[in-house]
Amino acid sequence: MANLNWSLLPWQIEVWQAPQRFKVIVAGRRTGKSNISIKKIIAAGLEAPAGSAVLYVGPTQAQTRQIAWDAILDQGREVIKSAHINSMDITLVNGVKIHLRSAENPDTLRGLKLHFVVIDEAAFIKDSEIWTKVIRPALSDLKGEAWFISSPAGRNWLYDLYKYALESEDPEWGAWHKTTFDNPTIDKKEIEAAEKTLSSFAFKSEFLASFDTAGSDLFKEEWLKYTEEPQYGEYVIAIDLAGFEDVAKNAGAAKKRLDESAITICKVLDNGDWWVKDILHGRWDIRDKKRSLAVIGVSHNDDVIYLVLLKIIGKCFNTLDGVSTFSNFNCVISRNSILN
Ligand SMILES: Nc1ncnc2c1ncn2[C@@H]1O[C@H](COP(=O)(O)OP(=O)(O)OP(=O)(O)O)[C@@H](O)[C@H]1O
Ligand SMILES: [Mg+2]
Repeated sequence: MANLNWSLLPWQIEVWQAPQRFKVIVAGRRTGKSNISIKKIIAAGLEAPAGSAVLYVGPTQAQTRQIAWDAILDQGREVIKSAHINSMDITLVNGVKIHLRSAENPDTLRGLKLHFVVIDEAAFIKDSEIWTKVIRPALSDLKGEAWFISSPAGRNWLYDLYKYALESEDPEWGAWHKTTFDNPTIDKKEIEAAEKTLSSFAFKSEFLASFDTAGSDLFKEEWLKYTEEPQYGEYVIAIDLAGFEDVAKNAGAAKKRLDESAITICKVLDNGDWWVKDILHGRWDIRDKKRSLAVIGVSHNDDVIYLVLLKIIGKCFNTLDGVSTFSNFNCVISRNSILN
């Protein structure tokens, strides 16, 4: 590394030196994710055995080219023998190839024998199969290593991997959580200024790398007030049933891989405010969801929907003290759920 004249930030040194084979690094915007990915892919290429390769994967071809291509040529200029932008392949002085690929064309990743792979912005790759079916097998010959590095984008497959790395005590896996504050080259005042203009949810997701709030940037926590239940108003049950298509495709998959459905019980007041009585969210059984999809598909008759939804949310009606008939309720089902 010395002759490449690189320096790493303290958090990057911590991750780099850790012994795990598989590393899941979740970090805020501008923390230095791409910078360490690019240095690592070059270093891994230099120590890879002859005939093997290392791989950089980004979510799209355009992003891969924009984020990684020029940066690798720049950071690795002293150790690069040749580079072919059409195929996005770089050959290092030791003959090892760095392949740059995107998740858009997973088939171009097959047939490789990999010493190391880094998946940059992994959370923005929709399908975990690129890891499980394409990349993981390519690491088997050489017991290659893999890094997953990303800002969070909700509780998707990267979240599952992060939790596994954090909680499983599997010695091959390590997890790190870093925020933009961990990059000393970014002025803290700049981050604080961003906090003032973003919703608190967006700030937590983008800068603090919080999975909990990713995708929820429509609301500011400060907009919510805690009050007693208002006397007058109309009850509404708002329902967002999670990804039917994905659920159907993954019929045999573990529940933890499915999206969460959300059910909110609200009272809409005359002035347009919504008073929230209860929010239920979870990954309910696929068969219940299939039944509810079938009925929503054939009929928008409210009573039928209520009855079918009852199967999913049986317990939520217990929370509605003093309300005895379904006709007291309106039902709002998110458009996406119906269209799915
Ligand atoms: N080791 C380092 N030494 C000096 N500066 C660094 C280092 N690592 C990152 N930086 C600087 O921090 C900034 C952010 O780096 P980088 O683009 O790698 O972050 P990122 O987490 O990938 O950002 P984004 O979320 O936008 O993808 C850049 O200005 C970069 O030059
Ligand atoms: Mg980046």
